[in-house]
Amino acid sequence: MSVAELIEGRHVCICAGAGGVGKTTTSAAIAMGMASRGLKVAVLTIDPAKRLASSLGLSELANEERRIEPELFERHGIEMRGELWAMMLDAKRTWDELIERRAPDRATRDAILGNRIYQQLSTAVAGTTEYMALERIYELHEERRYDLLVLDTPPTRNALDFLDAPERLSRFIDSRSLQLFLRPGLFGVRALGRGTGLIFGMLKRITGSDLLSDMSEFFGVFGDMAVGIRERATRVGELMADPRTAFLLVTSPRTDAVDEAIAFRRRLRESRMPFDGAIVNRVHEVTGVDASADDVEPDLGALLGDELGRKVARNFADYLRVAERDRENVRRLRREVRAEPLIEVPLFDDDVHDLEGLARVCGFLFAEDAVRA
Ligand SMILES: Nc1ncnc2c1ncn2[C@@H]1O[C@H](COP(=O)(O)OP(=O)(O)OP(=O)(O)O)[C@@H](O)[C@H]1O
Ligand SMILES: [Mg+2]
Repeated sequence: MSVAELIEGRHVCICAGAGGVGKTTTSAAIAMGMASRGLKVAVLTIDPAKRLASSLGLSELANEERRIEPELFERHGIEMRGELWAMMLDAKRTWDELIERRAPDRATRDAILGNRIYQQLSTAVAGTTEYMALERIYELHEERRYDLLVLDTPPTRNALDFLDAPERLSRFIDSRSLQLFLRPGLFGVRALGRGTGLIFGMLKRITGSDLLSDMSEFFGVFGDMAVGIRERATRVGELMADPRTAFLLVTSPRTDAVDEAIAFRRRLRESRMPFDGAIVNRVHEVTGVDASADDVEPDLGALLGDELGRKVARNFADYLRVAERDRENVRRLRREVRAEPLIEVPLFDDDVHDLEGLARVCGFLFAEDAVRA
């Protein structure tokens, strides 16, 4: 099974997984592979490595999509029948745009954007980046300018956090503490009790900022918009479960990553979320070698001298052990995903930081099983 078959006819493809496994690389490669097959594709990357960003033409922070020049593909000998657009998520900017769209008037908009509580909230609340990534995809999805949107996901410690993001935002808006602030007339030092008033007073002396008036202003103006934002969060959450959304799990073959991938798969099953396949990236492969380290040591010794030969043989033995561990972990994951597709991409000698590197990854993602083997 190739990625092209896996996501055929889908409008959105979400690449989720644990930190550092290759989500950004995989999303960019999937977007490129689908674009080269003739689709108009946009990939939303999150914190791409600098070199990858610049090869995607994203040297400055761009919350807008940019098209990758067709000449660039030509120069690298990569066939490109469609269009590849890329963008980087700027979570703060996306929040600001959401407020700009939702605010009933200029004064409200400016009051919120300039408010210190808002500025903290829009960057610091856990799950904000996750939510904003989905929010951005939802918006592009509504605009229907692309055949396919590929979403990279933020480096959460735990891949499961991503699934909860819209729900968490809704819960925050529904939470008792926020409701208390939002209820008109209730807000004030008296309603919060003397103790709170003292703390606010102390904070004001220490930080020099009037936290209390910031809070009262923020919750005052934000209150009316909260309902609208909450409704939107629900729709954003629904997009994740939409039949036109493909959900791919990216993982590395390391033991901890595979443990997490298995937990993730179960969690999706429990919440009846769609799952379309797993991609195991950076697999240590041993192709065309059927010798053990002991077998090769004498030859290496003759070639490199005893000491260096021994070191290289030991190194080779370590590599074989890691490759064996990877094979075992991939088997474990395969049992968990049962009949669902699982695609392996080997560990390359170099980082994947340019279009050529992405094309190499595509070679594995888009190969038929027989060819890959
Ligand atoms: N198959 C591969 N072979 C060699 N290097 C790879 C491969 N896939 C990815 N890399 C490299 O591994 C590093 C991590 O990849 P990437 O940034 O895609 O991971 P990520 O899951 O997005 O990480 P984060 O969770 O931090 O966002 C990058 O330097 C990338 O170039
Ligand atoms: Mg990443």
